[in-house]
Amino acid sequence: MTSVKPNDPRTDTEGERLVNAATRLLGRRITLCVSGSIAAYKACELARLLVKLGAKVNVALTRSATQFVGAATFSGITGNPVSIEMFEDAAVGESHITLSTQSDLLVIAPATADLLARLATGRADNLVTACALCARCPIIVAPAMHPSMWEHPATQRNIEQLRVDGRVKIVGPARGEVASGDVGLGRLEEPEIILHHVVAALSPQDLKMRHVVVSAGPTLEDMDPVRFLGNRSSGKMGFALAQCAAQRGARVTLVAGPTHLPTPPDVTRVDVRSALSMRSALWEALGSKLDGADVLIMAAAVSDFRSSEIQTEKLKRNPNTKIPQLAMNPDILAEIGAERRGSVPLLIGFAVETNSDALIASARSKLSSKHVDLVVANLAEKAFGLDENHVTLVTKAGESKLGVDSKSNLASRILDWAVASLGDAR
Ligand code: C5P
Repeated sequence: MTSVKPNDPRTDTEGERLVNAATRLLGRRITLCVSGSIAAYKACELARLLVKLGAKVNVALTRSATQFVGAATFSGITGNPVSIEMFEDAAVGESHITLSTQSDLLVIAPATADLLARLATGRADNLVTACALCARCPIIVAPAMHPSMWEHPATQRNIEQLRVDGRVKIVGPARGEVASGDVGLGRLEEPEIILHHVVAALSPQDLKMRHVVVSAGPTLEDMDPVRFLGNRSSGKMGFALAQCAAQRGARVTLVAGPTHLPTPPDVTRVDVRSALSMRSALWEALGSKLDGADVLIMAAAVSDFRSSEIQTEKLKRNPNTKIPQLAMNPDILAEIGAERRGSVPLLIGFAVETNSDALIASARSKLSSKHVDLVVANLAEKAFGLDENHVTLVTKAGESKLGVDSKSNLASRILDWAVASLGDAR
């Protein structure tokens, strides 16, 4: 049995198989500050997600936070001691100075109404407020409180003050049910959403001022009101690309076939169903002269065929039923590639094969047949529905095997290639 360290970001959740796990926060030092709200339990999950992405996490608790979650929980998750007092360890010195100056980012989640008031007036009366006042790194604040407290003019004034000061980014709160059972604006944003903003704050903003259009998921081709032709694409790769591009500062339009995946923050999503509707949405996003975007990434598994006609009534199973013929869908990427003049937008396609021997040759042939700049080659069995993928980047200049990696890491590497190519094209 392989021996693994629990906090090793290169081990998967089972702790057995060594994979090149998501490492987008590898080596980044993050201080997670927690104040006294029932939502403090969600900070445990946030700590776990940060550690899973490779961050070195220190936790600072207010005294009232300890009434909700114990220090032992956080030190167990992060593998680091938890700080509560400003002057607790003479050897370390002043904890607030040490923590804030040695952090790449501070995230305050949950931030109570009281904590927001203290932050807005520059108080430094506990470890968390003192850290925030000292820190010169990015600070993310995720408020959580009863909706009446959130709506109160005093809280709104404090939030406005924090926005005007420009030293913190406010994430949330979300609308929904709060601990009392009341519904409104006041829930702590989900840990995955806070994590998105943490990664964004620590990512290079090298796609700022760029418009990236991504297609994702399958297309479904209706035959009658209850049947359709589809494929096994989950949309995970395209969604990871859209999320990563947004984290790197791009304006992102995600044209998504039917999938249950949540829309990543800061991404404009256009839902479509068939190949023909995806084609219209993409042309709309790119503009008829193709000058509306800097990059198009066609990660969608567009159905090559559709039913030649869509019956308005359910087709009956009887010998006289006329079974509809299949018609060929347009190749959206090839159409855009043929229409493009010059190098805008940068075109990235995917090639999915079931035969590994044919994969690279097939990807290479798509480079010229579809007039694209990069083809991401992958095998259906190693890609569809999974959180990881095994890909090779194929360009006119050569091939680059990225190996097995999380879709989020691969998305980041595909975008590295796009950023470098956009730079070359300038
Ligand atoms: O030819 P093949 O379907 O393997 O090409 C895959 C690439 O072409 C993907 O990037 C896919 O999104 C795109 N495609 C398309 N329209 C189709 C079929 C595929 O844009 N009808």
